[in-house]
Amino acid sequence: MPEWMEVPPTAGLPLFWRDFIGRAASVPLEEFLARWLGVPWVRLECSGTSALVIALTTLARISTRRKVILPGYTCPLVALAVLHCGLVPVVCDVAPGTFDYCPATLNRLCDRDTLAVIATHLGGRVADLATISAVTQRQGAFVIEDAAQSLGAQWKGQRAGTVGDIGFFSLAAGKGLTLYEGGVLVARDPEVRRALQATSERIAPYRLLWELRRSFELIAYGISYRPSLLRLVYGMPLRSALRKGRLVAAVGDEFSAAIPIHRVGAFRRAVGARAAVRLPAFIEDLSIQADPRKKMLESIEGITVIGDPEGSQGTWPFFMVLMPSARARDLALDRLWRAGLGVTRLFIHALPDYQYLSRQLGDCEVNNARDFAARMLTISNSSWLRERDFERICAELTGVLRDSGQH
Ligand SMILES: Cc1ncc(COP(=O)(O)O)c(C=O)c1O
Repeated sequence: MPEWMEVPPTAGLPLFWRDFIGRAASVPLEEFLARWLGVPWVRLECSGTSALVIALTTLARISTRRKVILPGYTCPLVALAVLHCGLVPVVCDVAPGTFDYCPATLNRLCDRDTLAVIATHLGGRVADLATISAVTQRQGAFVIEDAAQSLGAQWKGQRAGTVGDIGFFSLAAGKGLTLYEGGVLVARDPEVRRALQATSERIAPYRLLWELRRSFELIAYGISYRPSLLRLVYGMPLRSALRKGRLVAAVGDEFSAAIPIHRVGAFRRAVGARAAVRLPAFIEDLSIQADPRKKMLESIEGITVIGDPEGSQGTWPFFMVLMPSARARDLALDRLWRAGLGVTRLFIHALPDYQYLSRQLGDCEVNNARDFAARMLTISNSSWLRERDFERICAELTGVLRDSGQH
């Protein structure tokens, strides 16, 4: 990769100029997504977080239960959304070496005051929905699928996100399909759908200034989402944050408690509708590219590439790679984080270790989530990452394992 270029950390669908000013798409965005996801109804929201707020606000009106269970390793915005709704976040540790719940801990934490369990499909990978549903069914809790990072993934032939009671997807910058910020809500039960729609109409009004800002950001994103400009808009701020040792800022985990909630306007809907037509083939191409690269990574003794449970088929925006120790992971990042090759970290901490969440979440037992955060790195599956760049990453990882005596 030439010095002045940069691969994005996750493979997002590039936008074309004709997405902004071309002829209107034949199918509106919501209708396209509903058909593709195989559901009768989807609702567009201004972010994945706002979709979750609408889901939780709706459920909190239906039920008097107050606890929401979320995994120890996930996006901090999920915890902020629960707190925003005045509900009680209960952090459940993950099983060793994964982002998925530890079944025994989930079983212990889920009780008659549990409103919902968040089932998280992280980085294109699919969560173990069978275990989660068995636990929630016993206690009468709702399942909310967080498919923010996994639009298009499949669980037993059904789209991830459409299996639980409610599901949401993110259309944020860098995601498969983006409106710069956007979210999609789905729900299985018609009554719940009507209630979600009513909540959305009540708490998500049209706000001109937000829409102007997001439209401008989307245009800037469309222009700059290419290797020649990503150095400037992504790589330079990343390196600057790393130089200052500000890891949370480096990966974009610095979130505020204020969650913007508003309607998505016609311009961004139209851009999304034109681009969405290319999404199914884009996801398929990434999956074809991922297959040999995953095998190449798996051939490196000592590392694990996170995969999917039996019968599911995730998407491949990036690879989640688990190193044998925190030391080996940090050594690998010393060599690769600044190289412009799309190697980075996902969430820096386990949830309770974010300073802005620690007070509200209190002391939770999340040793496995901490271990996952300490040993995991991600490698982009962008098609801009050429074969020889990928081979270089594999060679560096092999070298790290040799130098740290862990292969
Ligand atoms: C797992 C997960 N859940 C929820 C969200 C929130 O989505 P958004 O950024 O669209 O608000 C994100 C954001 O990346 C996420 O990664």
